[in-house]
Amino acid sequence: MLDSLAQADLLRSQNLVGQEWSDARAGQRLAVTNPATGEVIASVPDSHAADAALAADAAAAAFPAWSRRTARERAQIIKRWHALILAHEADLARIISAEQGKPLHESTGEVRYGASYVEWFAEEATRICGDVIAEAVPGRKMLVIKEPVGVVAAITPWNFPLAMIARKIAPALAAGCTVVAKPAEDTPLTALALVWLAQQAGLPAGVLNIVTASREHTPAVVDSWLADPRVRKITFTGSTPVGKHLARESAGTLKKLSLELGGNAPFIVFDDADLDAAVDGLMAAKFRNGGQTCVCPNRVYVQDAVHDDFVQRLAARVQALHVGPATERAAQIGPMINARAVDKIDRHVQDAVAHGARVVTGGARVRSADGPHYYAPTVLVNATPAMALAGEETFGPVAPVFRFHGEEEVVRHANDTPFGLAAYFYSNDVRRIWRVAQALETGIVGINEGALASEAAPFGGVKESGYGREGSRHGLDDYMHTKYLCQGQLL
Ligand code: SIN
Repeated sequence: MLDSLAQADLLRSQNLVGQEWSDARAGQRLAVTNPATGEVIASVPDSHAADAALAADAAAAAFPAWSRRTARERAQIIKRWHALILAHEADLARIISAEQGKPLHESTGEVRYGASYVEWFAEEATRICGDVIAEAVPGRKMLVIKEPVGVVAAITPWNFPLAMIARKIAPALAAGCTVVAKPAEDTPLTALALVWLAQQAGLPAGVLNIVTASREHTPAVVDSWLADPRVRKITFTGSTPVGKHLARESAGTLKKLSLELGGNAPFIVFDDADLDAAVDGLMAAKFRNGGQTCVCPNRVYVQDAVHDDFVQRLAARVQALHVGPATERAAQIGPMINARAVDKIDRHVQDAVAHGARVVTGGARVRSADGPHYYAPTVLVNATPAMALAGEETFGPVAPVFRFHGEEEVVRHANDTPFGLAAYFYSNDVRRIWRVAQALETGIVGINEGALASEAAPFGGVKESGYGREGSRHGLDDYMHTKYLCQGQLL
């Protein structure tokens, strides 16, 4: 897939530090593989602490000039970046699919989705404003201005290799921050391509720096930024244990943090719901990216009266999903990211069956000539809170259905988790809609809707799903601090 890029320069194999594309100082390399087959498709630098420190030096040096540019100048560069991303949509989609495995049409969707954040924040840059406060004392003026926080470290996951880094870098640049970035070890190529396009858009040297690293060396890279007082903010999407580590270790220099962490989303179907709409919503939310998203429904609760009907409709749709490699036009579910991911999914399914769940469809690895990392889209019934999948994120194409009787009971179960990223419910009762939307302890609630993410809306969680928001005006605020100016002696 990487052989057929129209713009071969998008395929980068080095870090960008300052204006130099360079290897890791120790010269080590990290192999990038096709997740379906394990075949090596490229290699990138396996960076260490020294490389991370050089990136931070470059970002710190570039900060004063970049932050002093007018918002409109910054916006113009970000808009050019946006245009270049769209102009290279087909190539970027190929790179995403090659290293992440999602079907090509989903990768194309991801390029547009990621680009929408870039455009949004280019526009928001020009709307940064503060307040003038009514005078409390004659002759004294009080003003509030917004300032960029400084150097931002962006640490991003593999499931959306373009969208997740775009929605961190774009607001940081728009606010006037400079960036050091470390993409996931499984999917560095998309991030490198995106950074190359930002350079082509005219981003000055040092404003955006990227280093790639293996799972083994990532802690050294990240620890270097955690200890560096010049890095004023960490923005991270990934697991809750890693998020907690970042929160603890950044305390030494009290950095600002945005943490988009694990979820355990409930998807509730009440007996007054439009069942066709609910099945459509669940298919969209659950099986996007093969179930590898933080906002994926992890627990499906269906009320008694509609349970069997709903399960039958759902199973028919899930059975019809086509599993296959990204290159296959008909593919709807690609390979999982790696063997550990498939093992976890299978462990959850086996554990559920051992605890009394019944497999309605799927329930096993797909023995495919295309590689060992495919898992059959699965529907389970008789799910209970005792099962591992009720408490942990499965991150795969498995929909476990729990039967419930009443509203209070289901809300209690839905909230019975330390996580609080997204929740979904389907109902046509307007009073219930408000009651349940307010009672659910999550940062995002889908009401009769399965596709929630948008550049115009704040994305983020509560409880152990983290804090901070991405997208919307709140997503820009997270990269600025508030400064109060008080001027006296004006009479
Ligand atoms: C995620 O899985 O972390 C993000 C999903 C999204 O943007 O919808």
